[in-house]
Amino acid sequence: MTAAISALERAAQAGFASRFDHGAMGLWSAPGRVNLIGEHTDYNDGFVLPLAIDRRTVVALATRNDRIIRVASSFASETVEVSLDELVPENLDGWSAYPLGVAWALGQFGADLSAVPGFEIYVDSNVPVGAGLSSSAALESAVAVALNDVWGLKLDRLTLARVGQLAENRVVGAPTGIMDQSASLLGRTDAVVFLDCRSLSAEVIPLGLNPAGLELLIIDTRVSHSHATGGYAARRASCEAGAHTMGVPALRDLSVDDLPRAQALLDDETFRRVRHIVTENQRVLDTVQTLRGSGCAAIGALLDASHRSMRDDFEISAPELDLAVVTARAAGAIGARMTGGGFGGAAIALTPTELVPAVQAAVLAAFATHGFATPDLFVVHAADGATHDADGEH
Ligand code: GLA
Repeated sequence: MTAAISALERAAQAGFASRFDHGAMGLWSAPGRVNLIGEHTDYNDGFVLPLAIDRRTVVALATRNDRIIRVASSFASETVEVSLDELVPENLDGWSAYPLGVAWALGQFGADLSAVPGFEIYVDSNVPVGAGLSSSAALESAVAVALNDVWGLKLDRLTLARVGQLAENRVVGAPTGIMDQSASLLGRTDAVVFLDCRSLSAEVIPLGLNPAGLELLIIDTRVSHSHATGGYAARRASCEAGAHTMGVPALRDLSVDDLPRAQALLDDETFRRVRHIVTENQRVLDTVQTLRGSGCAAIGALLDASHRSMRDDFEISAPELDLAVVTARAAGAIGARMTGGGFGGAAIALTPTELVPAVQAAVLAAFATHGFATPDLFVVHAADGATHDADGEH
């Protein structure tokens, strides 16, 4: 292996060797993400502005001479074994459904699964699970780039994002959009990914937090969320119903000028769901323009407006998220919002560097006063997307 690998990569390498009794062919990794702005817009063909973060999932992998796949990880004691010939969504469950689902989904995007070799894979990660930071997309993307390399598929990154999304939709059963995998595959250090989820055209926009004296503080409320059931799917259904009544293929096709007509045609709840998507798409465009023209210190009001829209119109916030946002703002953050699918998970607070300790202390105190579980607070930096980190001898 090459010299300069991280402790996490060394752990993945060692884990691989201890489970499979030989060395890995290589190491690949992919990051979690936070979304700066543009929530629930992805499956409405709209705009998103996420960043890859400096928390990663590493896979150590080696191909085999037969059709067997064996999957192991630092967070499960069992090693799951399946044949490439049995790789259908109905056979997959538990955490191994993510890597195995990606292998299956690659077959749906052109890989000839009857001709590729089996493999062994070991997963390690420091992306927190259940925090709304896309630990699942990190895992899917790391496996996707690894198999793309060792199977010689030459699929581009946007196709790999669609592979991860298909695995999530079909195998895991969560009706999610393409934002998380795109961020994990296309992210860049100190930048956000501006993605048009209809055309899948992506642009990397510099964020410039450091020169502006700002940090992106994550407040993980530890309130759990599940996208496979419940609220997420219900919101998606409302959006589709709203688009149908308005006579457009997707809510992306409406602008703020269409809102009076939407209000006249839709019931109050569906209207508010639609208003969130329409205004949120506009806020993404405004944020991009503001980042380019004035820099990140000027986007605070857009983050705040996004949170209000999710709290009041889309109704996907939670008391813990609202408290995190209000408290962070009162303690000096210049903008704050919940991030991700909602119903729990994390908030982000754009915070002047010197005020990070004060904001952290204020949020911890407020959660204690309200009797909420202790949140996890940490700063993240925008990082590079999925990478092939090292080669090794088999
Ligand atoms: C989850 C989904 C994404 C996106 C966000 C909300 O993270 O995986 O596709 O819909 O929620 O913006």
